[in-house]
Amino acid sequence: MVKLTRRKYLGKGLTGLLLFSVGGLLLDVWMSAGRFSSTHWKALVDARNLPGDGTYPFPNNKVALVVSRGRLAEISLECTHLGCIVNASDEGFFCPCHGSEFGPRGEVYSGPAPRSLPWHLVKVKNDQVWFHSGKKSTTAEWVSYLAKEGRMS
Ligand code: FES
Repeated sequence: MVKLTRRKYLGKGLTGLLLFSVGGLLLDVWMSAGRFSSTHWKALVDARNLPGDGTYPFPNNKVALVVSRGRLAEISLECTHLGCIVNASDEGFFCPCHGSEFGPRGEVYSGPAPRSLPWHLVKVKNDQVWFHSGKKSTTAEWVSYLAKEGRMS
């Protein structure tokens, strides 16, 4: 049986506390770098299933895919007033909460929304459309997509 002296007992306790603190600090840095968060690239839709130019809302993801002449961009459906999910159409966006209206590229037509709808980063990989759920921009990030015959206009 090993007998611990008071000094060794306190030393082990302080070492354990130090390791626990450093581990927590590293985990915090890792999480704030986005490693564990949900703000990553998310698959949205198979681009081959898009019927052509238009605005396609995905309310569960709070985004809409805007397709125009073989290019894709991803706009947020979160109203810049208080965050309600706006309704989308090819003519623009309408917020059902307080009546803000936005144009087809998210520009404010009438308030109370103070700013245009933001855009997400988007990419197409292996015919799959992906968007970045965390990063938003005030300008559209258009991505070219080589339309194949019968896929997209
Ligand atoms: S939340 Fe959209 S207008 Fe208020």
